[in-house]
Amino acid sequence: MKKIYIGMSADLLHPGHLNIINEARKLKGEIIVGLLTDKAIASYKRLPYMSFEQRKIIVENVKGVDKVVAQETLDYVPNLRKIKPDYVLHGDDWKKGVQAKTRQRVIEEMKKWGGEVIDIPYTKGISSTQLNNVLKEIGTTPEIRCQRLKRLLESKDLVRILEAHSGLSGLIVENVCVVKNNKKIEFDGIWISSLTQSAAKAKPDIGYLDTSSRLEVINDILDVTTKPIIYDGDNGGPTEHFVFTVKSLERLGVSAVIIEDKKGLKKNSLFGVEVSQTQENKDVFAKKIQAGKQARVGQNFMIIARIESLILKKGINDAIIRAKTYIKAGADAIMIHSCSDTFDEIKEFLKEYNKFKNRKPLVVVPSSYPDIREEELIENGVNMVIYANHLLRSSYPAMVKTAESILKNKRAKEASDKYCMKIKDIINLIPGAK
Ligand code: SPV
Ligand code: MG
Repeated sequence: MKKIYIGMSADLLHPGHLNIINEARKLKGEIIVGLLTDKAIASYKRLPYMSFEQRKIIVENVKGVDKVVAQETLDYVPNLRKIKPDYVLHGDDWKKGVQAKTRQRVIEEMKKWGGEVIDIPYTKGISSTQLNNVLKEIGTTPEIRCQRLKRLLESKDLVRILEAHSGLSGLIVENVCVVKNNKKIEFDGIWISSLTQSAAKAKPDIGYLDTSSRLEVINDILDVTTKPIIYDGDNGGPTEHFVFTVKSLERLGVSAVIIEDKKGLKKNSLFGVEVSQTQENKDVFAKKIQAGKQARVGQNFMIIARIESLILKKGINDAIIRAKTYIKAGADAIMIHSCSDTFDEIKEFLKEYNKFKNRKPLVVVPSSYPDIREEELIENGVNMVIYANHLLRSSYPAMVKTAESILKNKRAKEASDKYCMKIKDIINLIPGAK
């Protein structure tokens, strides 16, 4: 019996997929679907809506499919070598764009045993991209959004987060995407920074904004986005308050809160030892983590413990002891912060941290060491990077330039032409304006 191999993600199954399977049935062989794992899909585009197990159940029940196997990489070759199919079928859209290289490799490999690649004419009027856009417009549910961060951490080498401080900046994190080396690159989620939320209201980052006003901004962001959200909880406040914060955030569909092990009046960590900041006793802080974990209703909301030992010049040993204590208390991930202008001290920390048997995902915030590249973070075992303040920091100088231009020219034309988006573009930017 001939073997027919079809690689697919099958996240949003549509008539285009069924058409390929129907074409395969005409070949009267055994139809094997190589279902891309979440990791394989996340390596070149967004994480699928449905998990591998959910997608597998669906594909297994499609008429004509005899077997579903996992395809662990975007590259077909490892599975092809094992299965040695007579045919590989795919929609002819893979001749262009991000998948063209993949197709070429499949053709080369299949030649080795006389196999054939059949490109099926693309089904017009429907595509996963279209369905994905519609889904984005519909939005998401709190539960699906909440669990997305855990799934991303399981599927990606490095989860990439960018700060937003308003609905508008939230839209940027949601939608901006670039294509590089045939891969779609975008941000995986949104950081709700205490620094930028305070700065946007022209307030210092000293814990002055109350939780209600911070949640209001989160609501604006939730309205226009589907990506996971991580909340900067400062030190979490008194444990008796923290448990309420956890419940409110989880109910909204936020994925995680990060709390830092400091006490007393909050000062921004990037001041380092320039200002007086006190670290909390590690066992007291561990109890706060435990209380937060107990306050959750579901299993997906994450409590992330942020260690300030390097900020406060307490040394790597202190940071390691604290990481152990916080993981034991139930922290779902650890954030190690530093205000050094190099990555070196975090690199030292990671050498020890990576040896932990019960190691949890590690988060960094490279505000003071922006030279670091994502490749190097991955090499050193970092699991999540948060670009914590860049949208707010870039918007301020842009606005100053515009204001100065109007003053200098005594009219708006120069600023309007050079520095501003078109009126038409801004009024059409938000769906539902017309
Ligand atoms: C924030 O973005 O508010 C943070 C990171 O907590 S930092 O400003 O570096 O403390
Ligand atoms: Mg903060």
